[in-house]
Amino acid sequence: MKVLGIETSCDETGVAVYETGLAGTAGLRAHTVYSQIALHAEYGGVVPELASRDHVRKLLPLIRQTLAEAGMTTADLDGVAYTAGPGLVGALLVGAGVARSLAWALDVPAVGVHHMEGHLLAPLMEDDPPEPPFVALLVSGGHTQLVAVDAIGRYRLLGETLDDAAGEAFDKTAKMMGLPYPGGPQLAALAEQGTVGRFRFARPMTDRPGLDFSFSGLKTQVLLAWRDSDQSEQTRADIARGFEDAVVDTLAIKCERALDAAGSDVIVIAGGVGANKRLRAKLQEIAAKRGGRACFPRPSLCTDNGAMIAFAGALRLQAGQHETPEVKVVPRWDMAALPPVIRNL
Ligand code: KG4
Ligand code: ZN
Repeated sequence: MKVLGIETSCDETGVAVYETGLAGTAGLRAHTVYSQIALHAEYGGVVPELASRDHVRKLLPLIRQTLAEAGMTTADLDGVAYTAGPGLVGALLVGAGVARSLAWALDVPAVGVHHMEGHLLAPLMEDDPPEPPFVALLVSGGHTQLVAVDAIGRYRLLGETLDDAAGEAFDKTAKMMGLPYPGGPQLAALAEQGTVGRFRFARPMTDRPGLDFSFSGLKTQVLLAWRDSDQSEQTRADIARGFEDAVVDTLAIKCERALDAAGSDVIVIAGGVGANKRLRAKLQEIAAKRGGRACFPRPSLCTDNGAMIAFAGALRLQAGQHETPEVKVVPRWDMAALPPVIRNL
């Protein structure tokens, strides 16, 4: 089954073709991402109306380009998957409108995918994928969640952030120290030059039981440290390193607890912050110590992309799930409400 995947929930237009029945990474026939970062940079964050308009401009050319790269035409497609939520409503409607219209014109089924399920399943596109049950850490710009994955489509929320998401904390902290939007990757790069231990920030909510997170206090600690410092380049890098270490440690401590709670030794990491090198190394170390595995998608499939939507959609289409023809999106959507998937790849 060849499925076109369309992602337009925020500031990336992502398109991909996933073909089922091919081993490991071969299933991903083509994927392209157009990032709107430059468009939003001067505003310091995503402007929803500009995002929607840019998706309108870029989506059809990107679909043509992706199909060409896969050596296919629309006639080869057996289904269309798109991000139905959560996300910016106008941006979601662009993808949903195009996907449903295309599916209707081609007389193939369309399926709306939960963006976070897309992230969560992305590591399963890699070679030697993990089999549920496992624990997933979802760390993106909008979400920080620990999820028990009992089966594909059966998700139990173990813990989540009470305020800022991990990626949001990276972005806001970077902005405070004068780095351009989106600051997460830039802050991480800067931290590479930082001195370990010059700044030590709290590991929030690790001194009590539980699997929830809170990152807004950490952000304030960084703000105070930066404000009271000499604000030199080296200090900026040292603070970046202190902040990154605090976030990575906090996520790692909670992941260990979640593995204990779920009785598992397999942790799957997904979402934009999953591209962070230090987080990847730390979780790999923890999993190895337990005799288990830490599974990540390649960095380009950690951040928003159409491949994860094509893949998650293919699993659901194969299980016989699809939508009725009207165009509908779900800007706020609880992943635990999803129907299970009987797998047959
Ligand atoms: O999953 P994603 O692409 O979009 C959402 O669904 O939110 O995640 C984007 C987030 C941003 O906050 C970005 O700063 C963060 O992921 N991010 C990183 C890194 N790469 C992306 N944070 C820390 N280190 C990185 N290397
Ligand atoms: Zn995302």
